[in-house]
Amino acid sequence: MAEVLANSVYAVALTGAGVSTESGIPDFRGPSGIWTRDPEAERRAYEVYDKFLRNPVEYWMESVKSPIRDAIERAEPNPSHYALAELEKMGILKCIITQNVDNLHQKSGSQNVIDFHGNVSKLRCLKCGRRYPRDMFDIPKILEEGKIPLCECKYPLKSDVVYFNEPIPQDVYTRSVEEVVKCDVMIVAGTSAVVYPAAQLPRIAKNKPLPASVVEINAEPTPLTVEGISDYFIQGKTGEVLPRIVEEVKKFLAKYK
Ligand code: APR
Repeated sequence: MAEVLANSVYAVALTGAGVSTESGIPDFRGPSGIWTRDPEAERRAYEVYDKFLRNPVEYWMESVKSPIRDAIERAEPNPSHYALAELEKMGILKCIITQNVDNLHQKSGSQNVIDFHGNVSKLRCLKCGRRYPRDMFDIPKILEEGKIPLCECKYPLKSDVVYFNEPIPQDVYTRSVEEVVKCDVMIVAGTSAVVYPAAQLPRIAKNKPLPASVVEINAEPTPLTVEGISDYFIQGKTGEVLPRIVEEVKKFLAKYK
């Protein structure tokens, strides 16, 4: 399988929460996932977007404290992230489309990262699309003054994180599909591939006129595995498998290129 990557012209990756569990950030639907352990938390998560639209002040009062955001801010990249950053440095991986909001691909040195579900370190305006670094705002102080973070266009800001029922920002969606249409190899790592439209991306890669080779790495089989979207399925921990793939690609390139 390493030769598929070594010979690729335009490889991209789609990553999910599974690449960050070895950084101490729980996933959602794995055996000890957040939704697995607390289905009520998932039900509440479905209400956040509507709450923001109905009452941005209440949304801000409730979201200023977030244990998961604190865990994310403390987290460091793990070998999964560094392996993908290495593949980018080698000129093989052209883009990472991540469903994760933890900024760990960027922290590990990857340059071309699309945050398909947004990024905890940013705020975003639904009206004009502007994004701001979250730490530009002293949110507790703003809330104490009875205000909420506002965009330059005066519309209320929200976290850049894309909530359930919230549309994927158009710029992000368009760029992601462009990358997928261009790719001849797609690595799919650490995702249960059940949340759309992210889960559509490997299907687009596979069903386009010049199908890409889909290389799936996951702790457990997913619908991509079962439906034969994945041409290769490597069952294991991304923090172990991805570094091994990088080594195999390096050996192949040293031998044949
Ligand atoms: N190595 C390989 N696979 C792993 C590892 C690991 N170290 N840890 C967990 N996994 C696998 C799990 O078994 C599971 O199949 O990664 C997958 C993670 O799936 P989910 O928890 O569903 O995460 P993800 O696919 O990213 O979820 C998509 O759902 O809740 C929303 O917005 C949220 O972006 C998220 C989206």
